[in-house]
Amino acid sequence: MEIDVFTLFPEAFDWFAGQRHVRNAVEGGLRLDYVSYRAHTPLTGGQVDDTPFGGGAGMVLRVDVVDAALRGHYGRDPLDLHRERRVVALTPGGRLLDDALVEDLAGERALTLLSGRYEGFDERIVEHLATDAVSIGRYVLSGGELAAMVLCDAIVRKLPGALGHEDSVVEESFSPALEGGPEYPHYTRPAEYRGWTVPEVLLSGHHERIREWRLEQSRRRRGDASDPLR
Ligand code: 6GU
Repeated sequence: MEIDVFTLFPEAFDWFAGQRHVRNAVEGGLRLDYVSYRAHTPLTGGQVDDTPFGGGAGMVLRVDVVDAALRGHYGRDPLDLHRERRVVALTPGGRLLDDALVEDLAGERALTLLSGRYEGFDERIVEHLATDAVSIGRYVLSGGELAAMVLCDAIVRKLPGALGHEDSVVEESFSPALEGGPEYPHYTRPAEYRGWTVPEVLLSGHHERIREWRLEQSRRRRGDASDPLR
């Protein structure tokens, strides 16, 4: 798989790129590249954003800048890109990211992620240059970089070889194996601490009972609003 992240701050991804599971995925064939809008801007002085028409606070990422960055990087009209790759704009008003959308995007051969900054994108970027608009939650971040890392991380976890243990991704929260529900609780040593004990079944070595208990816990967490972890 191939993921290109367009951003005003490529260096913001240094920490993410250094993570073990990301490096594993890259060694396993993932191509993860960061492209600077500024490196391609047709405007003077590295300008990439502008004040909003109609007034208001903040700055808006320009459509001509994103068009030029895509054209400069891929060497053709960005509209022709849509046939071969999803172009995802990260924007607070986009489709809410969930496991099904991550699964869908992880199945693509190639993705382009567009991060915005400041007040956001000129809407024509979302409407014409992107194929998808994705949000990671109903709150506003100062830019799309953290959202792009969240999306990349969730995708990378789904790629073969990224996690050391292949089973970890099959039965994790919100996966079909758990009927789309949250994950069951985990425990490790010590089996008792300050009188706080571990559910007996987990110490039983009875794999079928453990599997049933875990599915039951996942169902209960989904249904029970009084669960402190919800
Ligand atoms: Cl994708 N971008 C920004 N700036 N804020 C967000 C977001 C994205 N998703 C939730 N909040």
